Amino acid sequence: MSLALAPFANEPVLELRRATERAKLAVGLGELVLPVRVPVWIGSDRRAGEQLVSTDPGRPERVVALAARAAPADADAAVAAARAAFPSWAATPVEDRAAALLRAAAWMRERRAALAALAVRECAKPWPEADADVCEAIDFLEFYARGALELATGAPLLQVPGERNELQYAPRGVCAVIAPWNFPIAIPTGMTAAALAVGNTVVLKPAEQAPGCGLRVVEALRAGGVPAAAISLLPGEGDVGAALAGHRDVATIAFTGSGPVGLELLRTAADVAPGARQLTRVVAEMGGKNCVIVDSDADLDEAVPAIVESAFGYAGQKCSAAARVLVHEALHDTLVERLAGAVQGLEVGPADAFATDVPPLIEQAAQTRVLRYAAIAAEQGQLALAGAHDVRADGWYVAPVIATHLPADSRVLREEIFGPLLTVEAVRVVDEACDRVDELAVALTGGLFSRNPRTVRRVIARSPVGNLYVNRATTGAMVGRQPFGGNRLSGTGTKAGGHDYLRHFVEPRVVTENTVRHGLVV
Ligand SMILES: NC(=O)c1ccc[n+]([C@@H]2O[C@H](COP(=O)([O-])OP(=O)(O)OC[C@H]3O[C@@H](n4cnc5c(N)ncnc54)[C@H](O)[C@@H]3O)[C@@H](O)[C@H]2O)c1
Repeated sequence: MSLALAPFANEPVLELRRATERAKLAVGLGELVLPVRVPVWIGSDRRAGEQLVSTDPGRPERVVALAARAAPADADAAVAAARAAFPSWAATPVEDRAAALLRAAAWMRERRAALAALAVRECAKPWPEADADVCEAIDFLEFYARGALELATGAPLLQVPGERNELQYAPRGVCAVIAPWNFPIAIPTGMTAAALAVGNTVVLKPAEQAPGCGLRVVEALRAGGVPAAAISLLPGEGDVGAALAGHRDVATIAFTGSGPVGLELLRTAADVAPGARQLTRVVAEMGGKNCVIVDSDADLDEAVPAIVESAFGYAGQKCSAAARVLVHEALHDTLVERLAGAVQGLEVGPADAFATDVPPLIEQAAQTRVLRYAAIAAEQGQLALAGAHDVRADGWYVAPVIATHLPADSRVLREEIFGPLLTVEAVRVVDEACDRVDELAVALTGGLFSRNPRTVRRVIARSPVGNLYVNRATTGAMVGRQPFGGNRLSGTGTKAGGHDYLRHFVEPRVVTENTVRHGLVV
Protein backbone atom coordinates (compact mmCIF):
# COMPACT_ATOMS: atom_id res chain seq x y z
CA MET A 1 0.00 0.00 0.00
CA SER A 2 1.35 3.47 -0.76
CA LEU A 3 0.38 6.47 1.31
CA ALA A 4 0.32 9.94 -0.22
CA LEU A 5 0.08 12.32 2.70
CA ALA A 6 -0.31 16.07 2.88
CA PRO A 7 2.55 17.74 4.76
CA PHE A 8 2.10 17.68 8.53
CA ALA A 9 0.05 20.54 10.02
CA ASN A 10 -0.98 21.05 13.64
CA GLU A 11 -4.58 20.21 14.54
CA PRO A 12 -6.20 23.62 15.11
CA VAL A 13 -7.37 24.22 18.68
CA LEU A 14 -10.97 25.31 19.19
CA GLU A 15 -11.70 29.01 19.28
CA LEU A 16 -13.35 29.01 22.66
CA ARG A 17 -14.35 32.67 22.45
CA ARG A 18 -17.11 31.37 20.13
CA ALA A 19 -20.25 30.25 21.97
CA THR A 20 -20.84 27.48 19.40
CA GLU A 21 -17.47 25.89 20.18
CA ARG A 22 -18.06 26.11 23.92
CA ALA A 23 -21.44 24.51 23.43
CA LYS A 24 -19.86 21.51 21.65
CA LEU A 25 -17.60 20.90 24.64
CA ALA A 26 -20.46 21.30 27.09
CA VAL A 27 -22.36 18.62 25.16
CA GLY A 28 -19.29 16.38 25.40
CA LEU A 29 -19.26 16.86 29.16
CA GLY A 30 -23.00 16.27 29.44
CA GLU A 31 -22.69 12.99 27.53
CA LEU A 32 -19.77 11.71 29.56
CA VAL A 33 -20.78 8.52 31.35
CA LEU A 34 -18.93 8.11 34.63
CA PRO A 35 -17.31 6.18 36.04
CA VAL A 36 -15.26 4.94 33.11
CA ARG A 37 -14.50 1.25 33.64
CA VAL A 38 -10.86 0.53 32.88
CA PRO A 39 -9.67 -3.07 32.50
CA VAL A 40 -6.24 -4.59 32.65
CA TRP A 41 -6.20 -5.19 28.90
CA ILE A 42 -3.58 -7.63 27.68
CA GLY A 43 -4.11 -8.49 24.04
CA SER A 44 -7.77 -9.47 23.81
CA ASP A 45 -7.89 -10.44 27.48
CA ARG A 46 -9.86 -7.93 29.60
CA ARG A 47 -9.89 -8.14 33.37
CA ALA A 48 -12.28 -5.73 35.03
CA GLY A 49 -11.74 -4.41 38.54
CA GLU A 50 -12.30 -1.46 40.84
CA GLN A 51 -9.18 -1.36 42.94
CA LEU A 52 -7.77 1.77 41.31
CA VAL A 53 -10.03 4.81 41.56
CA SER A 54 -9.50 8.15 39.88
CA THR A 55 -11.53 11.10 41.09
CA ASP A 56 -12.31 14.65 39.99
CA PRO A 57 -9.73 16.93 41.65
CA GLY A 58 -12.37 19.67 41.83
CA ARG A 59 -14.91 17.40 43.53
CA PRO A 60 -13.08 14.40 44.93
CA GLU A 61 -16.26 12.54 45.81
CA ARG A 62 -16.98 12.26 42.05
CA VAL A 63 -15.46 9.00 40.79
CA VAL A 64 -14.18 9.41 37.24
CA ALA A 65 -12.70 5.98 36.57
CA LEU A 66 -12.80 2.61 38.25
CA ALA A 67 -9.86 0.56 37.08
CA ALA A 68 -8.53 -2.89 37.62
CA ARG A 69 -5.15 -2.55 39.29
CA ALA A 70 -2.44 -4.39 37.39
CA ALA A 71 -0.04 -6.36 39.55
CA PRO A 72 3.61 -6.94 38.70
CA ALA A 73 2.61 -10.45 37.43
CA ASP A 74 0.45 -8.75 34.79
CA ALA A 75 3.60 -7.03 33.55
CA ASP A 76 5.00 -10.48 32.70
CA ALA A 77 1.86 -11.45 30.78
CA ALA A 78 1.71 -8.13 28.93
CA VAL A 79 5.39 -8.27 27.96
CA ALA A 80 4.98 -11.88 26.80
CA ALA A 81 2.01 -10.85 24.61
CA ALA A 82 3.93 -7.88 23.24
CA ARG A 83 6.95 -10.04 22.54
CA ALA A 84 4.84 -12.61 20.69
CA ALA A 85 3.19 -9.86 18.63
CA PHE A 86 6.48 -8.16 17.78
CA PRO A 87 7.66 -10.14 14.71
CA SER A 88 4.41 -9.67 12.85
CA TRP A 89 3.94 -5.97 13.72
CA ALA A 90 7.60 -5.29 12.87
CA ALA A 91 7.08 -7.03 9.51
CA THR A 92 3.89 -5.08 8.78
CA PRO A 93 4.67 -2.63 5.96
CA VAL A 94 5.43 0.82 7.37
CA GLU A 95 2.63 2.28 5.22
CA ASP A 96 0.11 0.04 7.00
CA ARG A 97 1.46 0.94 10.43
CA ALA A 98 1.31 4.63 9.55
CA ALA A 99 -2.24 4.22 8.23
CA ALA A 100 -3.29 2.66 11.56
CA LEU A 101 -1.93 5.70 13.41
CA LEU A 102 -3.77 8.05 11.06
CA ARG A 103 -7.02 6.17 11.65
CA ALA A 104 -6.42 6.47 15.41
CA ALA A 105 -6.02 10.23 14.89
CA ALA A 106 -9.34 10.28 13.01
CA TRP A 107 -10.97 8.33 15.86
CA MET A 108 -9.80 10.98 18.33
CA ARG A 109 -10.90 13.82 16.04
CA GLU A 110 -14.41 12.38 15.93
CA ARG A 111 -14.53 12.14 19.73
CA ARG A 112 -12.75 15.35 20.44
CA ALA A 113 -15.31 16.85 22.84
CA ALA A 114 -15.72 13.59 24.78
CA LEU A 115 -11.96 13.18 25.18
CA ALA A 116 -11.47 16.78 26.31
CA ALA A 117 -14.36 16.37 28.76
CA LEU A 118 -12.69 13.31 30.28
CA ALA A 119 -9.43 15.25 30.76
CA VAL A 120 -11.44 18.05 32.39
CA ARG A 121 -12.95 15.60 34.87
CA GLU A 122 -10.06 13.22 35.50
CA CYS A 123 -7.16 15.70 35.63
CA ALA A 124 -8.92 19.07 36.14
CA LYS A 125 -7.58 20.42 32.87
CA PRO A 126 -9.41 23.66 32.06
CA TRP A 127 -11.17 23.52 28.67
CA PRO A 128 -8.55 25.28 26.51
CA GLU A 129 -5.85 23.01 27.89
CA ALA A 130 -7.98 19.87 27.65
CA ASP A 131 -8.77 20.66 24.03
CA ALA A 132 -5.08 21.37 23.33
CA ASP A 133 -4.18 18.02 24.93
CA VAL A 134 -6.42 16.17 22.46
CA CYS A 135 -5.04 18.21 19.55
CA GLU A 136 -1.49 17.38 20.62
CA ALA A 137 -2.33 13.67 20.76
CA ILE A 138 -3.70 13.89 17.21
CA ASP A 139 -0.55 15.79 16.18
CA PHE A 140 1.72 13.08 17.58
CA LEU A 141 -0.14 10.39 15.63
CA GLU A 142 -0.01 12.37 12.40
CA PHE A 143 3.60 13.48 12.87
CA TYR A 144 5.09 10.11 13.81
CA ALA A 145 3.15 8.34 11.04
CA ARG A 146 4.91 10.62 8.54
CA GLY A 147 8.21 10.32 10.41
CA ALA A 148 8.13 6.52 10.23
CA LEU A 149 7.62 6.62 6.46
CA GLU A 150 10.63 8.91 6.17
CA LEU A 151 12.81 6.83 8.49
CA ALA A 152 11.97 3.67 6.54
CA THR A 153 13.96 5.00 3.60
CA GLY A 154 17.11 4.49 5.70
CA ALA A 155 20.12 6.77 5.40
CA PRO A 156 22.39 7.38 2.41
CA LEU A 157 25.89 5.88 2.65
CA LEU A 158 29.01 6.30 0.58
CA GLN A 159 29.05 3.74 -2.25
CA VAL A 160 32.20 2.58 -4.05
CA PRO A 161 32.56 0.21 -6.99
CA GLY A 162 32.32 -3.44 -5.96
CA GLU A 163 30.20 -3.05 -2.85
CA ARG A 164 26.69 -2.00 -1.93
CA ASN A 165 26.09 -0.39 1.47
CA GLU A 166 22.68 -0.05 3.00
CA LEU A 167 21.52 1.35 6.35
CA GLN A 168 18.06 0.51 7.63
CA TYR A 169 16.43 1.30 10.95
CA ALA A 170 14.90 -1.72 12.68
CA PRO A 171 12.46 -1.65 15.60
CA ARG A 172 14.00 -2.65 18.94
CA GLY A 173 11.25 -4.89 20.36
CA VAL A 174 8.94 -4.42 23.32
CA CYS A 175 8.58 -0.86 24.59
CA ALA A 176 7.28 -0.07 28.08
CA VAL A 177 5.56 3.31 28.04
CA ILE A 178 5.25 4.87 31.50
CA ALA A 179 3.25 8.10 31.44
CA PRO A 180 2.41 11.01 33.75
CA TRP A 181 -1.05 12.51 34.41
CA ASN A 182 -0.48 16.13 33.43
CA PHE A 183 -0.96 15.63 29.68
CA PRO A 184 -3.15 12.58 30.19
CA ILE A 185 -3.97 11.94 26.52
CA ALA A 186 -1.16 13.65 24.59
CA ILE A 187 1.89 12.23 26.39
CA PRO A 188 0.87 8.54 26.48
CA THR A 189 -0.31 8.85 22.87
CA GLY A 190 2.96 10.45 21.80
CA MET A 191 5.30 7.90 23.37
CA THR A 192 3.12 4.96 22.29
CA ALA A 193 2.60 6.20 18.73
CA ALA A 194 6.32 6.74 18.23
CA ALA A 195 7.18 3.23 19.38
CA LEU A 196 4.42 1.62 17.29
CA ALA A 197 5.06 3.69 14.17
CA VAL A 198 8.52 2.20 13.70
CA GLY A 199 7.43 -1.36 14.44
CA ASN A 200 7.81 -1.90 18.19
CA THR A 201 5.04 -3.36 20.33
CA VAL A 202 3.95 -1.51 23.45
CA VAL A 203 2.75 -2.04 27.00
CA LEU A 204 1.27 1.22 28.30
CA LYS A 205 1.24 2.02 32.01
CA PRO A 206 -0.74 5.25 32.37
CA ALA A 207 -0.50 7.39 35.50
CA GLU A 208 -2.57 6.10 38.40
CA GLN A 209 -4.35 9.47 38.45
CA ALA A 210 -5.50 9.09 34.83
CA PRO A 211 -6.41 5.49 33.92
CA GLY A 212 -9.58 6.63 32.10
CA CYS A 213 -7.58 8.77 29.68
CA GLY A 214 -5.06 5.93 29.26
CA LEU A 215 -7.89 3.61 28.22
CA ARG A 216 -9.01 6.03 25.51
CA VAL A 217 -5.48 6.09 24.05
CA VAL A 218 -5.46 2.31 23.71
CA GLU A 219 -9.02 2.28 22.31
CA ALA A 220 -8.02 4.82 19.66
CA LEU A 221 -5.00 2.80 18.55
CA ARG A 222 -6.87 -0.49 18.45
CA ALA A 223 -9.78 1.14 16.60
CA GLY A 224 -7.19 2.43 14.13
CA GLY A 225 -6.06 -1.13 13.44
CA VAL A 226 -3.11 -1.71 15.74
CA PRO A 227 -3.36 -5.42 16.68
CA ALA A 228 -4.56 -5.99 20.25
CA ALA A 229 -1.40 -7.79 21.35
CA ALA A 230 0.75 -4.95 20.01
CA ILE A 231 -0.71 -2.47 22.50
CA SER A 232 -1.68 -3.60 25.99
CA LEU A 233 -2.89 -1.49 28.90
CA LEU A 234 -1.78 -1.90 32.49
CA PRO A 235 -3.57 0.56 34.76
CA GLY A 236 -1.67 0.59 38.01
CA GLU A 237 0.80 2.31 40.24
CA GLY A 238 4.56 2.67 40.37
CA ASP A 239 5.14 -1.00 41.22
CA VAL A 240 3.82 -2.07 37.81
CA GLY A 241 6.00 0.53 36.11
CA ALA A 242 8.99 -0.82 38.02
CA ALA A 243 8.13 -4.43 37.09
CA LEU A 244 7.91 -3.47 33.42
CA ALA A 245 11.15 -1.52 33.54
CA GLY A 246 13.04 -4.39 35.14
CA HIS A 247 11.68 -7.00 32.72
CA ARG A 248 14.46 -8.60 30.72
CA ASP A 249 12.37 -8.64 27.54
CA VAL A 250 11.70 -4.90 27.56
CA ALA A 251 13.98 -3.31 25.00
CA THR A 252 13.00 0.31 25.49
CA ILE A 253 11.51 2.26 28.37
CA ALA A 254 9.75 5.45 27.28
CA PHE A 255 9.14 7.46 30.42
CA THR A 256 7.83 10.92 31.13
CA GLY A 257 7.52 11.97 34.75
CA SER A 258 9.44 13.11 37.78
CA GLY A 259 13.22 13.19 38.11
CA PRO A 260 13.56 10.66 40.94
CA VAL A 261 11.52 8.02 39.07
CA GLY A 262 13.37 8.70 35.82
CA LEU A 263 16.72 8.25 37.54
CA GLU A 264 15.53 5.01 39.11
CA LEU A 265 14.53 3.73 35.67
CA LEU A 266 17.96 4.63 34.29
CA ARG A 267 19.59 2.66 37.12
CA THR A 268 17.27 -0.30 36.53
CA ALA A 269 18.09 -0.33 32.84
CA ALA A 270 21.81 -0.16 33.52
CA ASP A 271 21.61 -3.34 35.56
CA VAL A 272 21.35 -5.93 32.76
CA ALA A 273 18.83 -8.58 33.83
CA PRO A 274 20.03 -12.22 33.77
CA GLY A 275 19.06 -13.76 30.46
CA ALA A 276 18.53 -10.39 28.78
CA ARG A 277 19.51 -10.35 25.12
CA GLN A 278 19.48 -6.60 24.72
CA LEU A 279 20.53 -3.44 26.52
CA THR A 280 17.46 -1.57 27.70
CA ARG A 281 17.35 1.92 26.29
CA VAL A 282 15.69 4.61 28.39
CA VAL A 283 13.99 7.62 26.90
CA ALA A 284 13.35 9.75 29.99
CA GLU A 285 11.71 13.15 30.02
CA MET A 286 11.71 14.60 33.50
CA GLY A 287 11.07 17.73 35.53
CA GLY A 288 12.76 21.11 35.68
CA LYS A 289 12.98 24.42 37.53
CA ASN A 290 12.20 26.78 34.74
CA CYS A 291 13.58 30.30 34.89
CA VAL A 292 12.47 33.41 33.03
CA ILE A 293 15.01 36.22 32.71
CA VAL A 294 13.64 39.75 32.42
CA ASP A 295 16.16 42.42 31.42
CA SER A 296 15.85 46.14 32.17
CA ASP A 297 14.69 46.92 28.61
CA ALA A 298 11.91 44.31 28.59
CA ASP A 299 8.45 45.30 27.48
CA LEU A 300 6.41 44.59 30.60
CA ASP A 301 3.13 44.76 28.71
CA GLU A 302 4.37 41.69 26.89
CA ALA A 303 6.26 40.04 29.77
CA VAL A 304 3.60 40.21 32.51
CA PRO A 305 0.78 38.29 30.76
CA ALA A 306 3.26 35.80 29.30
CA ILE A 307 4.81 35.08 32.71
CA VAL A 308 1.40 34.81 34.37
CA GLU A 309 0.25 32.34 31.70
CA SER A 310 3.48 30.34 32.00
CA ALA A 311 3.44 30.15 35.80
CA PHE A 312 -0.24 29.77 36.60
CA GLY A 313 -1.83 28.11 33.54
CA TYR A 314 -3.07 24.65 34.61
CA ALA A 315 -2.08 25.77 38.13
CA GLY A 316 1.62 25.49 37.29
CA GLN A 317 1.35 21.75 36.64
CA LYS A 318 3.07 21.74 33.25
CA CYS A 319 6.64 20.54 33.11
CA SER A 320 7.37 23.69 31.08
CA ALA A 321 5.77 26.05 33.63
CA ALA A 322 7.73 29.11 34.74
CA ALA A 323 8.89 28.72 38.35
CA ARG A 324 11.51 31.46 38.85
CA VAL A 325 11.70 34.97 37.45
CA LEU A 326 15.16 36.57 37.46
CA VAL A 327 14.61 40.26 36.83
CA HIS A 328 16.96 43.21 36.49
CA GLU A 329 16.99 45.02 39.84
CA ALA A 330 15.79 48.27 38.24
CA LEU A 331 12.51 46.57 37.29
CA HIS A 332 12.07 44.23 40.27
CA ASP A 333 9.53 46.19 42.29
CA THR A 334 7.51 47.28 39.27
CA LEU A 335 7.40 43.74 37.88
CA VAL A 336 6.35 42.24 41.23
CA GLU A 337 3.59 44.82 41.58
CA ARG A 338 2.34 44.24 38.05
CA LEU A 339 2.51 40.46 38.33
CA ALA A 340 0.62 40.60 41.62
CA GLY A 341 -2.03 42.80 40.03
CA ALA A 342 -2.42 40.48 37.07
CA VAL A 343 -2.54 37.34 39.21
CA GLN A 344 -5.15 38.92 41.48
CA GLY A 345 -7.44 38.98 38.45
CA LEU A 346 -7.07 35.25 37.76
CA GLU A 347 -10.09 33.09 38.34
CA VAL A 348 -9.39 30.12 40.62
CA GLY A 349 -12.14 27.58 40.13
CA PRO A 350 -13.33 24.25 38.77
CA ALA A 351 -11.89 23.05 35.47
CA ASP A 352 -15.28 22.77 33.80
CA ALA A 353 -16.02 26.51 34.18
CA PHE A 354 -14.96 28.32 31.01
CA ALA A 355 -13.83 31.36 33.05
CA THR A 356 -11.36 29.36 35.15
CA ASP A 357 -7.66 30.20 34.86
CA VAL A 358 -6.30 28.25 37.83
CA PRO A 359 -7.94 24.87 38.44
CA PRO A 360 -7.46 22.64 41.49
CA LEU A 361 -4.31 20.55 41.79
CA ILE A 362 -4.35 16.91 40.78
CA GLU A 363 -4.60 15.40 44.29
CA GLN A 364 -4.46 16.11 47.97
CA ALA A 365 -0.77 15.23 48.23
CA ALA A 366 -0.02 17.90 45.62
CA GLN A 367 -2.04 20.47 47.56
CA THR A 368 -0.16 19.61 50.76
CA ARG A 369 3.19 19.82 48.95
CA VAL A 370 2.54 23.22 47.41
CA LEU A 371 1.19 24.65 50.67
CA ARG A 372 4.33 23.41 52.41
CA TYR A 373 6.54 25.26 49.93
CA ALA A 374 4.35 28.37 50.30
CA ALA A 375 4.85 28.22 54.07
CA ILE A 376 8.63 27.94 53.63
CA ALA A 377 8.54 30.90 51.23
CA ALA A 378 6.55 32.97 53.73
CA GLU A 379 9.02 32.12 56.46
CA GLN A 380 12.19 32.73 54.45
CA GLY A 381 11.03 35.62 52.25
CA GLN A 382 7.93 37.63 51.47
CA LEU A 383 4.65 36.78 49.76
CA ALA A 384 3.40 39.39 47.32
CA LEU A 385 -0.12 38.07 47.07
CA ALA A 386 -1.13 36.77 50.46
CA GLY A 387 -4.90 36.52 50.84
CA ALA A 388 -5.68 37.72 47.31
CA HIS A 389 -7.81 34.67 46.52
CA ASP A 390 -10.38 32.97 48.63
CA VAL A 391 -10.21 29.42 47.35
CA ARG A 392 -12.93 26.81 47.53
CA ALA A 393 -12.55 24.00 50.04
CA ASP A 394 -14.40 21.37 47.97
CA GLY A 395 -11.38 20.42 45.84
CA TRP A 396 -7.59 20.42 45.87
CA TYR A 397 -7.33 24.17 45.31
CA VAL A 398 -4.30 26.31 46.08
CA ALA A 399 -4.36 30.07 45.61
CA PRO A 400 -1.58 31.45 43.38
CA VAL A 401 1.54 32.51 45.29
CA ILE A 402 4.27 34.98 44.30
CA ALA A 403 7.29 34.84 46.61
CA THR A 404 10.14 37.36 46.73
CA HIS A 405 13.29 38.08 48.77
CA LEU A 406 14.20 34.42 49.25
CA PRO A 407 17.74 33.46 50.28
CA ALA A 408 19.81 32.03 47.42
CA ASP A 409 19.97 28.59 49.02
CA SER A 410 16.21 28.33 49.62
CA ARG A 411 14.63 25.01 48.63
CA VAL A 412 11.83 27.04 47.11
CA LEU A 413 14.30 28.31 44.48
CA ARG A 414 15.84 24.93 43.73
CA GLU A 415 13.21 22.19 43.88
CA GLU A 416 10.43 21.53 41.39
CA ILE A 417 7.20 22.52 43.17
CA PHE A 418 4.75 21.74 40.35
CA GLY A 419 2.03 24.13 41.45
CA PRO A 420 0.96 27.77 41.30
CA LEU A 421 3.99 29.22 43.11
CA LEU A 422 6.25 31.69 41.32
CA THR A 423 9.37 33.24 42.80
CA VAL A 424 10.91 36.55 41.74
CA GLU A 425 14.58 37.46 42.33
CA ALA A 426 16.49 40.63 41.50
CA VAL A 427 19.76 40.43 39.56
CA ARG A 428 22.25 43.19 38.79
CA VAL A 429 22.89 42.15 35.20
CA VAL A 430 21.63 39.52 32.76
CA ASP A 431 24.85 37.54 33.12
CA GLU A 432 24.14 37.10 36.82
CA ALA A 433 20.75 35.63 35.87
CA CYS A 434 22.50 33.29 33.41
CA ASP A 435 24.89 32.22 36.21
CA ARG A 436 21.94 31.32 38.43
CA VAL A 437 20.32 29.31 35.63
CA ASP A 438 23.63 27.58 35.01
CA GLU A 439 23.92 26.56 38.69
CA LEU A 440 20.85 24.34 38.35
CA ALA A 441 21.23 20.65 37.57
CA VAL A 442 17.96 20.67 35.65
CA ALA A 443 17.51 22.37 32.27
CA LEU A 444 14.05 21.94 30.76
CA THR A 445 12.58 25.24 29.60
CA GLY A 446 13.60 28.86 30.02
CA GLY A 447 12.44 32.29 29.00
CA LEU A 448 13.93 35.67 28.20
CA PHE A 449 12.36 39.08 27.85
CA SER A 450 14.68 41.64 26.27
CA ARG A 451 14.51 44.07 23.38
CA ASN A 452 18.24 44.08 22.77
CA PRO A 453 19.32 41.62 20.04
CA ARG A 454 22.81 41.38 21.55
CA THR A 455 21.38 40.38 24.93
CA VAL A 456 19.15 37.85 23.21
CA ARG A 457 22.15 36.30 21.42
CA ARG A 458 24.23 36.25 24.62
CA VAL A 459 21.53 34.52 26.64
CA ILE A 460 20.88 32.00 23.85
CA ALA A 461 24.60 31.17 23.81
CA ARG A 462 24.68 30.66 27.58
CA SER A 463 21.38 28.86 28.02
CA PRO A 464 21.59 25.12 28.82
CA VAL A 465 17.85 24.44 28.60
CA GLY A 466 16.15 22.16 26.11
CA ASN A 467 13.57 24.78 25.10
CA LEU A 468 14.29 28.50 25.37
CA TYR A 469 11.48 30.94 24.62
CA VAL A 470 12.33 34.56 23.78
CA ASN A 471 9.74 37.29 24.38
CA ARG A 472 6.85 34.83 24.78
CA ALA A 473 5.36 32.34 27.22
CA THR A 474 7.44 29.27 28.13
CA THR A 475 4.56 26.83 27.73
CA GLY A 476 2.57 25.52 24.77
CA ALA A 477 5.19 23.70 22.66
CA MET A 478 3.66 22.50 19.40
CA VAL A 479 4.48 19.21 17.66
CA GLY A 480 6.75 19.85 14.68
CA ARG A 481 7.32 23.49 15.66
CA GLN A 482 8.94 23.25 19.08
CA PRO A 483 10.38 19.73 19.53
CA PHE A 484 10.22 19.43 23.30
CA GLY A 485 12.43 18.01 26.03
CA GLY A 486 15.03 18.86 28.63
CA ASN A 487 18.78 18.63 29.06
CA ARG A 488 21.02 17.88 32.08
CA LEU A 489 18.98 16.04 34.75
CA SER A 490 15.74 17.04 33.01
CA GLY A 491 16.00 14.34 30.41
CA THR A 492 17.96 12.12 28.13
CA GLY A 493 18.04 14.85 25.50
CA THR A 494 14.97 13.55 23.77
CA LYS A 495 12.85 15.91 21.73
CA ALA A 496 9.24 14.77 21.59
CA GLY A 497 7.46 16.02 18.49
CA GLY A 498 10.73 16.50 16.61
CA HIS A 499 12.38 14.74 13.70
CA ASP A 500 14.95 12.88 15.80
CA TYR A 501 12.47 11.41 18.26
CA LEU A 502 11.73 8.18 16.37
CA ARG A 503 15.42 7.27 16.33
CA HIS A 504 15.18 6.44 20.04
CA PHE A 505 12.91 3.54 19.16
CA VAL A 506 15.02 1.91 16.45
CA GLU A 507 18.46 0.45 15.99
CA PRO A 508 20.47 0.98 12.84
CA ARG A 509 21.56 -2.02 10.81
CA VAL A 510 24.11 -1.78 8.04
CA VAL A 511 24.46 -4.40 5.35
CA THR A 512 27.48 -4.40 3.07
CA GLU A 513 27.41 -6.66 0.05
CA ASN A 514 30.34 -7.54 -2.14
CA THR A 515 29.07 -7.00 -5.68
CA VAL A 516 32.25 -8.01 -7.55
CA ARG A 517 31.54 -11.02 -9.79
CA HIS A 518 33.05 -14.23 -8.50
CA GLY A 519 31.93 -16.34 -11.42
CA LEU A 520 28.91 -18.52 -11.85
CA VAL A 521 27.61 -21.03 -9.34
CA VAL A 522 26.32 -23.96 -11.37
N1 LIG B 1 9.98 16.65 30.44
C1 LIG B 1 8.73 16.49 30.06
O1 LIG B 1 8.41 16.48 28.88
C2 LIG B 1 7.66 16.28 31.09
C3 LIG B 1 6.33 16.28 30.67
C4 LIG B 1 5.32 16.08 31.62
C5 LIG B 1 5.65 15.89 32.95
N2 LIG B 1 6.95 15.92 33.32
C6 LIG B 1 7.29 15.75 34.73
O2 LIG B 1 6.46 14.77 35.31
C7 LIG B 1 6.25 15.02 36.69
C8 LIG B 1 4.77 14.97 37.01
O3 LIG B 1 4.24 13.74 36.63
P1 LIG B 1 3.94 12.56 37.67
O4 LIG B 1 3.58 13.13 38.98
O5 LIG B 1 2.97 11.65 37.00
O6 LIG B 1 5.37 11.86 37.74
P2 LIG B 1 5.77 10.49 38.47
O7 LIG B 1 7.22 10.30 38.22
O8 LIG B 1 5.29 10.45 39.86
O9 LIG B 1 4.94 9.37 37.69
C9 LIG B 1 5.09 9.16 36.30
C10 LIG B 1 4.77 7.71 35.98
O10 LIG B 1 5.77 6.87 36.59
C11 LIG B 1 5.13 5.84 37.34
N3 LIG B 1 6.02 5.43 38.43
C12 LIG B 1 6.07 5.92 39.70
N4 LIG B 1 7.04 5.28 40.40
C13 LIG B 1 7.61 4.39 39.55
C14 LIG B 1 8.68 3.47 39.68
N5 LIG B 1 9.34 3.33 40.82
N6 LIG B 1 9.02 2.74 38.59
C15 LIG B 1 8.38 2.89 37.42
N7 LIG B 1 7.34 3.73 37.24
C16 LIG B 1 6.97 4.49 38.30
C17 LIG B 1 3.83 6.45 37.79
O11 LIG B 1 2.92 5.47 38.19
C18 LIG B 1 3.43 7.23 36.54
O12 LIG B 1 2.82 6.38 35.60
C19 LIG B 1 6.87 16.39 36.93
O13 LIG B 1 8.15 16.22 37.49
C20 LIG B 1 6.99 16.98 35.52
O14 LIG B 1 7.99 17.97 35.39
C21 LIG B 1 7.96 16.10 32.43
